[in-house]
Amino acid sequence: MQAWKEYQSDNKDRFLDELLDLLRIPSVSADSKYKEDVARCAEAVKEHMLKAGCDSAEVCPTAGHPIVFGQKIVDPSLPTILVYGHYDVQPADPLNLWTSGPFEPVIKDGKIYARGACDDKGQMFMHIKALEVMAKTNSLPCNVKIMIEGEEEVGSNNLGIFLEANKERLKADVVLVSDTSMISMEHPSIESGLRGLSYMEVEVTGPNRDLHSGVYGGAVANPATILCKMIASMHDENNHITIPGFYDKVQELTDAERAAINSAPFDLTEYKEELGVKEIWGEKGYTTLERTGIRPTLEVNGIWSGYIGEGAKTVLPSKANAKISMRLVPNQGSDEITELFTKHFNSIAPDYVTVKVSAHHGGEAVVTPTDSPAYKAAAKAIQTTFGKDPIPTRGGGSIPIVALFEKTLGLKTVLLGFGLDNDNIHSPNEKYDVFNYYKGIETIPYFHKYFAESFGQ
Ligand code: BES
Ligand code: MN
Ligand code: MN
Repeated sequence: MQAWKEYQSDNKDRFLDELLDLLRIPSVSADSKYKEDVARCAEAVKEHMLKAGCDSAEVCPTAGHPIVFGQKIVDPSLPTILVYGHYDVQPADPLNLWTSGPFEPVIKDGKIYARGACDDKGQMFMHIKALEVMAKTNSLPCNVKIMIEGEEEVGSNNLGIFLEANKERLKADVVLVSDTSMISMEHPSIESGLRGLSYMEVEVTGPNRDLHSGVYGGAVANPATILCKMIASMHDENNHITIPGFYDKVQELTDAERAAINSAPFDLTEYKEELGVKEIWGEKGYTTLERTGIRPTLEVNGIWSGYIGEGAKTVLPSKANAKISMRLVPNQGSDEITELFTKHFNSIAPDYVTVKVSAHHGGEAVVTPTDSPAYKAAAKAIQTTFGKDPIPTRGGGSIPIVALFEKTLGLKTVLLGFGLDNDNIHSPNEKYDVFNYYKGIETIPYFHKYFAESFGQ
């Protein structure tokens, strides 16, 4: 489409400047100190929707951070795409590991560095710009509803409620999301699944107060040691998770399905080198791509106890704590796994400590179809702009609301992501290639075109 190309190239610099402005807003959803900034970001997203050509756009308050909803209805008889993304970001710390300010975006070697550059401001904004391209060239081939939330990084609880309450308003034919990654620009791919999540927090208490480690050490259990032992015991010598019942509902894939996953391009030497590890680690009997795509895992996200300030303090701490999350695969219910974990953690606690287990957010795994008209439209769009057929892959991350799009709205999702695994999402120095940003804006209109055509439009 010549008109799209021209509009995009005429407005290229502005498209980038607008994204940089959005990245300057520290919309960290997890930290209440940023509440005002999150609200300001929602307003900015709404203004961009209107400017892009939406008939209407609204900041919808929730019990937490607001949801921004806009739409452009060309003709009610045309198919409708519901675009989803999130404008909230993960906390930026540890700040000292950033080479430039997380909310002072800079472009270096063709990459935008900022918190949210890839996850997900850069990617969701491609949709607003793609909508602008189609709307301003009078070539939008279908209706578009666009819903950008502010709580994805904290579990999307209020969006779940919003879906229930707005079923009519959210009626559509498919959900389109750009919040995942590709193998590389040379090997474009489409994720056809997301893992679920159970996120737990544990507290192990020993003595009723911090003690002198010389006076009491050796005679009273140290909760830090006990917590480490308990955590270590949750993987066996084959790196299987030892929680009873944990794997009961896990669907084993067929040899053919596993072969398909393993046929994706992957270079183990490069992988290790890029991460700075001598050897990889993981569940025996599975490849790296399987370990991150189709197998459940258990990770310690944070662990703390005792004295961690400057110098040395001889202390036997009273408490030790950890945040532990489990990635889940289809059929493993998040609530059920939360319960199994709780029961198990309590059962392995020795008598010389007491434990407290609580649950944070969770979400269910999904597999998105690769034979649907929507997937085919996405594959054809990639073929058009990359000149290559995309490889279907299984992603390791989670987007909890995707399972609810299906359950609550009866809608399948297409994960048309343009990030790269080494974009440092959730890490210091998050980046997004300017090339990928423009490529996304170029590709998305073709999805709309081919999806509409699949309805005979
Ligand atoms: N965009 C990510 C999820 C993702 C990343 C999927 C890369 C596939 C590839 C999303 O913002 C995210 O980080 N989700 C959280 C879950 C949430 C409940 C905090 C996650 O996966 O940890
Ligand atoms: Mn995201
Ligand atoms: Mn994220």
